[in-house]
Amino acid sequence: MKSALEAIGAAAREQLAGAADLKALEELRIKFLGKKGELTALLKQMGGLSPEERPIIGQLANQVRQEIEEEIAQRQQALKSALAQQKLREEALDVTMPGKQLPMGHQHPLSLVLDEFKEIFLGMGFDVVQGPEVELDYYNFEALNIPKDHPARDTQDTFYINDNIVLRTQTSPVQVRTMEQRKPPIRIISPGRVYRSDAVDATHSPIFHQIEGLVVDKGITMADLKGCLETVVKRIYGDDAVVRFRPHHFPFTEPSAEVDIQCFNCKGEGCRLCKGEGWIEILGCGMVHPKVLSGCGIDPEVYSGFAFGIGLERLVMRRFNIDDLRLFYDNDLRFLSQF
Ligand code: DAH
Repeated sequence: MKSALEAIGAAAREQLAGAADLKALEELRIKFLGKKGELTALLKQMGGLSPEERPIIGQLANQVRQEIEEEIAQRQQALKSALAQQKLREEALDVTMPGKQLPMGHQHPLSLVLDEFKEIFLGMGFDVVQGPEVELDYYNFEALNIPKDHPARDTQDTFYINDNIVLRTQTSPVQVRTMEQRKPPIRIISPGRVYRSDAVDATHSPIFHQIEGLVVDKGITMADLKGCLETVVKRIYGDDAVVRFRPHHFPFTEPSAEVDIQCFNCKGEGCRLCKGEGWIEILGCGMVHPKVLSGCGIDPEVYSGFAFGIGLERLVMRRFNIDDLRLFYDNDLRFLSQF
C-alpha cells in the first residue's frame, strides 16, 4: 500500500507539472483528490490493515495528499500569473503610434454673424431673450395690433396649427411676452427662427431667422432709435457704412421706418447686387405703438420705446457675398467649411 501511495504521489506530480491550463488542473485535482479520486479509493482499503500499520500508512497518505495540494496550489499560481502576463501583452498600448486626425468643425455662418451681433448688443446693455416658435395667434398678431381682419396677415403666409396657434411668422411676439414679464427699463434682443409658407428659391425659405430688438423706458425717442441702429450698422459693416431711414408702415410701430444701407459694391450708383437701387434694405423699425404698450400693461403716457426686426439670412448673405439662401440649409461641407 505504501508503494501504491508513493506511486500516486509521483504520478500526480508528473501530471500536474504538465497541466496546460486551469481547467486541466481542476480535472487532475478531481482525479487524485476528489471523492471518487485515486487517493480516496486507496484509503478506503485501509480497513484491511493491521492496527500497527494503520497510523503509518495514514500519516503517509496525509503527507501525499498535502504534497498534491501544494503542488496544485503552486501550479495554479503559475498558470494564473502566466495568464495575466499574456493578457497584459495582448492589451498593451503603443503610445508612440500616431493618433487619428479628427477634422475640425466650423461654425455655421448664421451662428457666426449672430454671435457677433449678440456681442455688440450685450456691450450696449441689452439682454438676449428667447420666445416660443409655436406661438399663440394673440402674441404673433393680436397683441401687435394686427387684428383678425387686418390685411397685414395676408402678407405673412402663416402656418396655422389651429385657429389660435401658429408657427410664429416674426420674432415680434417676443416683444409682447417681454413687456408682460418685465418692467421698464427694457433692453432686449431676441434672435430666432420664424416660419412663412413660402416656396423655396434663392431668396426665400419657409424657415428663416430674425433678430428682434426692443427698448422701453421714459423719454425714448426716434433719435435713440436712429443712434442705436446706426451704431450697430457701423460696427458690423464698418465706419464708412452709410444708412438711411425711409418711412414705412408696420401695425405695431408708429411712426415706422425701414433702414437701408448704401450699397457698398457700387456706393449708391446702382448695380446687380442692389438691383440698381443703390441701397439695400436691412431692417424694419419704429416707435412702439401706444396700443401695444398699453396692451402689455405699460402706460404710454409715461413710457415710450423703439423696436426693430432684422432678417439674419440677408445680413449674412450680404456679409459674405452669398447669392443663394439655400446654401445655409443644405449642409454641404464644401460650403460650410469656408467659414
Ligand atoms: N416683424 C417685422 C417683419 O417680420 C419686422 C419688424 C418691423 C419688427 C418693425 C419690428 C419693427 O420690431 O419695429 O416684417
